[in-house]
Amino acid sequence: MNYKVAVIPGDGIGPEIIAEARKVLDKTGEKYGHTFEYQELLMGGCSIDAYGEPLTDETLEKARASDSVLLGAVGGDVGKSGWYELPPDKRPEAGLLKIRKGLGLYANIRPAVLFDELSGACPLKEDITNGGFDFVVMRELTGGLYFGERKTIEENGVLKAIDTLTYDENEIRRIAKWGFDVAMKRNKRVCSVDKANVLDSSRLWRKVVKEVSEEYPEVELTDMLVDNCAMQIVRDPKQFDVILTENMFGDILSDEASMVTGSIGMLSSASLGSTKLGLYEPSHGSAPDIAGQDKANPLATILSAAMMLRYSFDLGKEADAIEDAVKQVLKEGYRTVDIMDNGKTLVGTKQMGDLVTAHIK
Ligand code: IPM
Ligand code: MG
Repeated sequence: MNYKVAVIPGDGIGPEIIAEARKVLDKTGEKYGHTFEYQELLMGGCSIDAYGEPLTDETLEKARASDSVLLGAVGGDVGKSGWYELPPDKRPEAGLLKIRKGLGLYANIRPAVLFDELSGACPLKEDITNGGFDFVVMRELTGGLYFGERKTIEENGVLKAIDTLTYDENEIRRIAKWGFDVAMKRNKRVCSVDKANVLDSSRLWRKVVKEVSEEYPEVELTDMLVDNCAMQIVRDPKQFDVILTENMFGDILSDEASMVTGSIGMLSSASLGSTKLGLYEPSHGSAPDIAGQDKANPLATILSAAMMLRYSFDLGKEADAIEDAVKQVLKEGYRTVDIMDNGKTLVGTKQMGDLVTAHIK
């Protein structure tokens, strides 16, 4: 079959890591009888330079017309790029928020997995991580503080900034369903994270998640306050299977979760909605400091491409082939600089991409 993939290389290391993911996809297609037709689109700083805005309506339409979107990273150096002198809604990251909202991608899945081969890079003590851990943060992506009304006003000579955190029950219900559906395919445990001791939006969150849980009797539901969850992720990450949470809490907890794995360069993510169209991107950023130097780790982007095959195209076997190839290359001792360790072989971005490509079975 032929799949139309919109690729957004973006800024910084984005173009380099996307190039490697495309190599891997093409090889996978060749082996399994599929073709991937790519359409390159601009978003982020490069789109600001070309069109004066981080994501044009035309580009958004092209993304919508594709079967799926694969993204590198957007954003640049705050001091050097000049993009951050623009008003907030014209900066690179605004493109990301616009595409999430515009494509209705309200469910963001970010896995936090301790890879056996990389357990040495994990900053937690061995007695905490023994046996590994594997959980996902299921983050609501198009509501809450990110999309509520905001303004800065002056009252009696005093500046005042206002951001609003709003959720309606339908927004909570649909993300909760995603959380429970994913848990059904994993270890059947959902930990819903909120701040119900303070926030009304969290009290509604808790109530609706509880209602949804009644449709999933096999899944065990627990509630946890967000400050406690931040602590539990470093104290005992093994306790989690699916962490289900709202947009801002999910932003923060997913960064923390990726850090405790010790290998943020390895973590993929998927943003999904009510159709098969998804947006797949590495969990890390655009790393402008190492851009163009063949140093970036392309594995998170390659694993994001695997997620795309699994979730948007229902190509489970093909996704397994990519994930197995990545594991095999790590087992053979190849490492990019971010995950380099004594006695291993240091490789650059391109060589890592070539190695994974050569290992697709
Ligand atoms: C992320 C990023 C974005 C977010 C930024 C770049 C707007 O931190 O994808 O987690 O906060 O959602
Ligand atoms: Mg973030």
